[in-house]
Amino acid sequence: MEYVLQMKNISKTFGEVAALHHVNFEVGTNEIVGLLGDNGAGKSTLVKIITGYHCPDPGGEIFWKQEKVSHLTVSKARDLGIEVVYQERALADLQSLWRNIFMGRELSNRLGVLDQRGMVRETRKLMSTAMGFTSSAVTPESTVGTFSGGERQGVAITRALYFEAELIILDEPTMGLSISETRKCLDFVDGIKQAGKSAIFIDHNIVHVYPVADRIVVLDRGTIAGQFQKGELKFDELIDRLTHLAQTGHLETNHPKAR
Ligand SMILES: Nc1ncnc2c1ncn2[C@@H]1O[C@H](COP(=O)(O)OP(=O)(O)OP(=O)(O)O)[C@@H](O)[C@H]1O
Ligand SMILES: [Mg+2]
Repeated sequence: MEYVLQMKNISKTFGEVAALHHVNFEVGTNEIVGLLGDNGAGKSTLVKIITGYHCPDPGGEIFWKQEKVSHLTVSKARDLGIEVVYQERALADLQSLWRNIFMGRELSNRLGVLDQRGMVRETRKLMSTAMGFTSSAVTPESTVGTFSGGERQGVAITRALYFEAELIILDEPTMGLSISETRKCLDFVDGIKQAGKSAIFIDHNIVHVYPVADRIVVLDRGTIAGQFQKGELKFDELIDRLTHLAQTGHLETNHPKAR
């Protein structure tokens, strides 16, 4: 498998707290990785290292498409095509849809003047294709504060894909969403797969991660407790193992199929 991202021997300590402990983690080209773990497992810390927000402890190495990245910063991560979609901070509520899509990456014409008509036109195109907005009540001028949770996720993911993100990270995108909104959000994650890009999908809930992930990685108290190719384990078996992990701190079970 070709990797977009490889992280080797990543540790991160905050004072006395070891948030991550010798973690090896990778994401393949066009692979959707489900990252599961309880509160405090270190999921967000891992994301913040990938996005250049935190620097790992010495000894860790990060590779982007086989090339070592010696000092990853927030702007470098963005240049590489790493985008994070946060539920709460994804969009500017009071701004229109088109402004949200192009925020920070506005189109301008040859004279350097903002190309508002172009941005509205592109947004309208994206609405009917990638975002799948069918209601005539929603226009490029609509304020995103009125959108539902699933629609907001959709806008954020569509924006990332439009600007050719290679790796999209979703940190608990389904938090606080209803069942139907969650469904929409998962469809957008599927859209990342269809677009040939990669994603890390973080969630507490295996029910959300399982359908869209190619591989599932379980993080437990700062270390990788195990990982599974989706085809390797049935859903029920995975649930058994996760239950066992919660009870014992080990992922292996006595299940006859456990290796
Ligand atoms: N900036 C920080 N300073 C000190 N400790 C931190 C910091 N960030 C995270 N931690 C600690 O590191 C550990 C891992 O936190 P992290 O936020 O990565 O967990 P998480 O898996 O994202 O949890 P959740 O599911 O609750 O979001 C926790 O014990 C947390 O308190
Ligand atoms: Mg977190």
